[in-house]
Amino acid sequence: MTPRIWELLDLVARWVHVVAGIMWVGNSLLFNWLDRSLQKRAVSGMTREPLGTIWLLHSGGFYYVEKTLLAGEPLPTPLHWFKWQAYTTWLSGVALLVVVYWAGGRAVMADPSVHGISQLHATALAIAGLVLGWGLYEGVQRLVAPRAPRVAAAAWTAGLILVAIAFTNHLSGRAAFLHVGAMLATIMAGNVFLTIVPSQRALVASVRSGGAGAELAALSARAKRVSIHNNYFTFPVIALMVSNHFPALYAGRWSWLVLLILVAGGAAVRHVLNVRWTWPGWRPALAGTIATTIAALWAVLSIPAPPVESTIAPSRMSVAGPVTFADARHVIDRRCAVCHSMSPVDSSLGVAPAGVAFDTPEEIVARAARIRERAVVTRTMPPANRTHMTDEERAVLARWIDYGGRVR
Ligand code: HEC
Repeated sequence: MTPRIWELLDLVARWVHVVAGIMWVGNSLLFNWLDRSLQKRAVSGMTREPLGTIWLLHSGGFYYVEKTLLAGEPLPTPLHWFKWQAYTTWLSGVALLVVVYWAGGRAVMADPSVHGISQLHATALAIAGLVLGWGLYEGVQRLVAPRAPRVAAAAWTAGLILVAIAFTNHLSGRAAFLHVGAMLATIMAGNVFLTIVPSQRALVASVRSGGAGAELAALSARAKRVSIHNNYFTFPVIALMVSNHFPALYAGRWSWLVLLILVAGGAAVRHVLNVRWTWPGWRPALAGTIATTIAALWAVLSIPAPPVESTIAPSRMSVAGPVTFADARHVIDRRCAVCHSMSPVDSSLGVAPAGVAFDTPEEIVARAARIRERAVVTRTMPPANRTHMTDEERAVLARWIDYGGRVR
């Protein structure tokens, strides 16, 4: 398949994925909010006692919503289910993984500066880690959580940390973050497919056969429990999915810690937002949680990287003093413009990836700061050092930019 076809497949899968994901997460947040905002009050002229009711105002009308388990009442039709948002998000997510990482090669799975693993082995490891992480969650959920919820939570958290460390130590930074996100999202979709929807099927069947209140409540509680897990996963997953735009997050030596801070911070913010109805002090707690997360990210990102000089022979870092634009351009032509051009030699990652072309001096000068960030500071360009850029060449770019980054 040509790069153009991969690009179109990427676009279609991504478009569907983002739209379905917005709908799924939007539903999760709305229903979670609904459940926590329902008020218990008697409804005049009704025999049943609802679990809660609420009035809403949206798009020019008043909506009345009532939550009930319909004990002893007929099943209303039509009854709207919410499941295809979740399935569509997961299926299009898998399609994206195939197109971008596993087969389409639009982003690298393996990075020799991280580990000498091959593209194929990196893909196998990523898939295995994803399946194991999901399997561990399902396993402890079903077998351990009903008896010892804390043990279950601890076992799964340990599993998450292991997967994060294994991925960040073997895969390219981008791939590692994305695949941990995909693992969490698979757990969420699995919760819908394996627990929530089956519980709801049973609930519907039970209502049809005139089921008793206690039985209905148990089915409802089972679906609700994993639905709340999903709710806690939403913010971390979104952070991991957009992490690709932030090379400083995934590039460093401590990227596994950055990843875990994103997950913990996202879940903690979700928690404060969830308990805000019963906790008067939630506003300062929210501000504190966000500030702590940002401070932790800042602290980890500020840990100095081992100096480049110490990892290579000193003679190769001999670039000192000003460097001319011609020197910098020579490096960029050889190592970057292969991809970053309107007529690239290597178009496997798209034409002028991320909209960046280095065909003219103006284009190079305009991107000087980002060139430094990607090629010198985070060393995330060239991807997986595909064009075999040397440390000396990185030093040339650094010197050129440090001395003004101009065409002279
Ligand atoms: C093998 C192809 C390839 C090569 C070679 C390459 N890049 Fe990239 N570049 C990409 C891709 C793909 C993206 C988009 C994904 C990303 O940002 O990680 C990108 C994005 C960028 C961006 C825009 C995003 C941002 O962070 O601002 C900059 C700047 C960049 N590259 C600089 C460079 C520099 C400098 C070099 C040479 C040292 C280089 N690239 C070599 C493929 C390449």
